[in-house]
Amino acid sequence: EKDGHDWFMRKEIFEQPRAVADSLIGRRTARGQLQLDEMRLADEEIRELDKIIIIACGTSFYAGMVAKYAIEHWTRTPVEVELASEFRYRDPIVDNTTLVVAISQSGETADTLQAIRHAREQRAKVLAICNTNGSSIPRESDAVIYTHAGPEIGVASTKGFLTQLVACYLLALYIAQVKGTRFGDEIDEIMEQLEEIPAHIDTVLADADQVYELAREHVSTSSVLFLGRHAGYPVALEGALKLKELAYIHAEGFAAGELKHGPIALIDEGLPVLCVVPPKGRDQLHGKMLSGIQEVRARGARTICLAEEGDTSIEPYADVLLRLPKVPVLLQPLVAIIPLQLFACELATALGHDVDQPRNLAKSVTVE
Ligand code: F6R
Repeated sequence: EKDGHDWFMRKEIFEQPRAVADSLIGRRTARGQLQLDEMRLADEEIRELDKIIIIACGTSFYAGMVAKYAIEHWTRTPVEVELASEFRYRDPIVDNTTLVVAISQSGETADTLQAIRHAREQRAKVLAICNTNGSSIPRESDAVIYTHAGPEIGVASTKGFLTQLVACYLLALYIAQVKGTRFGDEIDEIMEQLEEIPAHIDTVLADADQVYELAREHVSTSSVLFLGRHAGYPVALEGALKLKELAYIHAEGFAAGELKHGPIALIDEGLPVLCVVPPKGRDQLHGKMLSGIQEVRARGARTICLAEEGDTSIEPYADVLLRLPKVPVLLQPLVAIIPLQLFACELATALGHDVDQPRNLAKSVTVE
């Protein structure tokens, strides 16, 4: 049942090329139009949207953070991302031109469910991104995009996260198409880039041994920091969460630009810092990340860098270099998270922990 893997989690990590491919099947019509069958929101309603609020918990919340970058860039619609447990106890500004997007693998998370009830009472439209057919959250939503990860058994979300990202990109492109933004014309091109992702994930998985070796070198580490920028920032947060929940090691993710506002004080001789390096695009992102890496290294950090193939500028500053395939910056989370999942899984295994059932955690959190 685990396909020869020691843990369900590891099996699910290796299933991700398939899960991503399945989540993309049947979304394009012959005429090059994007279709989302479970959308159930009229084009008119989508055109009237003036705000999107994404609510979720944990890993699903980090998928929502990535979604913000894509939705705002492609659709020019303002997006807020909020933890469900915070949203529901606020007095949020929501009306019938607000789309609330609830992201939940299980569809049963109590905080997220309560949050969508709270939103609907104020006439917001609710769209669920969910992996579990017929669960409570999609049942109580106006529309739903189902992810096709298949059942996720490991308590730590992996393929659930990747397929949530895919659903978010699809939603963003769909809104761009309906609203007719300039990215509406690039849907075909972006869909093609998405369709190449499963093969890219295979490439990353083929280097798993390098990550495993690295993980085993860190069994006596008491703290690991994760740095990212832009769409790589939520990846850093998710990488840190995976390590906390599986290896029970202190881990924190930061936006690299925030370093000098406090976190850099944590840097000490030998502290491992995992850095998600953005692709070398035309903007300044890559250069800014590089200077952040130089700063932590100058203070003694051991820099473990995830950087795209062919990026030689990173070499002088990386104590360890893990290569990622070349993909656009907005899609990079789909490949960059893989080594971080493998790292946490292997480190926890080396420490003798039960990876599929970490202490104190439950697969669906149906209590507040
Ligand atoms: C972390 C993890 C949790 C869940 C969170 C939300 O690996 O699995 O943080 O992401 O409990 O769960 P869902 O997506 O089922 O609402």
